[in-house]
Amino acid sequence: MARHLITSALPYINGVKHLGNLVGSMLPADVYARFLRQQGHDVVAICATDEHGTPAELAAAEAGLPVDEYCAEQWAIQKDLGERFGLSWDHFGRSSSSHNHELTKLLAAQLEEHGFIEERVTDQIYSPTDGRFLPDRYVIGTCPYCGYDRARGDQCENCTRLLDPTDLIEPRSAISGATDLEVRATKHLYLLQSRMADRLRAWIDEREDWPLLTRSIAYKWLDEGLEDRSITRDISWGVPVDRPGFEGKVFYVWFDAPIAYIAATKEWAEDVAGLGEEGWRRWWTDATGSDVTYTQFMAKDNVPFHAVMFPATLLGADSGWKLVDYIKSFNWLTFYGGKFSTSQQRGVFMDAALEILPSDQWRYHLIANAPESSDASFTWESLVQSVNKDLAGSYGNLVNRVLGFTAKNAGGVVPTVEGSSASRDAFVEQVGGLVATYTGHMEAKDLRKAMTVLRELWSAGNVFWNAQEPWKLKDDPAARDAVIATALHHLRLLAILGAPVLPDTSAVLLRAFGIDDLPAWPTDVAAEMEALGPGTPIEVPPVLFAKIDDDQIEIWKQRFGAGEE
Ligand code: MF3
Ligand code: ZN
Repeated sequence: MARHLITSALPYINGVKHLGNLVGSMLPADVYARFLRQQGHDVVAICATDEHGTPAELAAAEAGLPVDEYCAEQWAIQKDLGERFGLSWDHFGRSSSSHNHELTKLLAAQLEEHGFIEERVTDQIYSPTDGRFLPDRYVIGTCPYCGYDRARGDQCENCTRLLDPTDLIEPRSAISGATDLEVRATKHLYLLQSRMADRLRAWIDEREDWPLLTRSIAYKWLDEGLEDRSITRDISWGVPVDRPGFEGKVFYVWFDAPIAYIAATKEWAEDVAGLGEEGWRRWWTDATGSDVTYTQFMAKDNVPFHAVMFPATLLGADSGWKLVDYIKSFNWLTFYGGKFSTSQQRGVFMDAALEILPSDQWRYHLIANAPESSDASFTWESLVQSVNKDLAGSYGNLVNRVLGFTAKNAGGVVPTVEGSSASRDAFVEQVGGLVATYTGHMEAKDLRKAMTVLRELWSAGNVFWNAQEPWKLKDDPAARDAVIATALHHLRLLAILGAPVLPDTSAVLLRAFGIDDLPAWPTDVAAEMEALGPGTPIEVPPVLFAKIDDDQIEIWKQRFGAGEE
């Protein structure tokens, strides 16, 4: 048994997340966490809302609410939706928690103590019309790198470059649209990342097992030269900087947000699990957490912050903080080749998704088409294909046929098997091979490949059933019983193996066998294929997956669009 800490990039508080957000971080993290738990590991899965900074202030203003009220509301909505999607976090916290305030200040103090913080006077954009400085997203303009005309002051959504508001061409205020912007001097704290460049490069050099996408982004950042970064902002919603001359300033959201991984673990340990201080320190400090494997899940735009900047914070603090062991990063999920967009409400969002299909079907479809090695396009056509062909046509159909046949021909119980048969042995061996491959892909966090093998496991069951033709074995009840028993065991195994992705379906299928607790991940497939005692009653569950009518595609396209601007 090993110890695994798993975090998914913290979703911004501003609004319900879309399927692209879900498949790029929270969902794969959950699939992996569930898999590791089933293997018997000690797992802590942490997520939280990323609440500070300008996106929250802007969204709250738009909703006409004080920002703290807005965040409290949105946190509850996101937590509820996550749970309804089967996201089995140990804790879903908030970056605005008191724990995060404390830890953010602590990390800043530790960085300062080791000489990595400097006060600098910088030029900032000031809007006379709005009567305030305009940090980050309060400024919109044209990206100097790619020409995208709606780039935000902190990052260009189009080319993912990090920006400073003063980089933007033709800048305008996101609050008022004012273009009469001035540049004024103001004081900020800088994190001296440039002094850590060598240490960071050496650390990345050793991460040879990281996915190419993660490493290439990390190196791109290092190769461009790590610049010192301002870690404070002129806004009011955030962790205040307790320092003379910094009244009214808070830490930059990208400084406090990753620290919220630690803070949410702390909140979980101290306030939820009752494990006290050691309960979170054992996951987050080198001294006691050296046997912890820490895996982060995120979309590619987040990689610079997690592969370079958060490690810079933790290394610079020099207080034994645990660094990430593996960053699993994702490309974009597109909506018919276009962008999912929260600001433009384009695409499918988590709340609407659950109105139209059960969460398991989304989970399977999204993971089976996850943008792992390249961008992937969400289309209604491919969703219907996943449900009708894979889930209903292959998996669900196998379950129906086998359980229905058992009810009619074996008295609804697991039959007794006498002797052995070559076809059964061959099937067990085939399944054993597929389980090993499947397990390997899950361990490697190659989830899309894992789904390919899961489908092979489903179709292997159908092929076996069709080849054995148990309905033709009326005169050879012993042979017929052997086929039924083998197929039933295979179904039980499919429920166990599918559980990380299809947790609700697996629970229903296992209940058909009278099993309430999810069995452990299989290590000895031959033994699993004999695990059910003869005479175990089997109940036929309701149809697991309903087929979707082709007409439905048009209805969904009308409701959600199909990616057109
Ligand atoms: N809120 C960011 C996003 O959705 C991710 C923050 S990850 C964190 O892109 F670690 F910084 F919190
Ligand atoms: Zn750009």
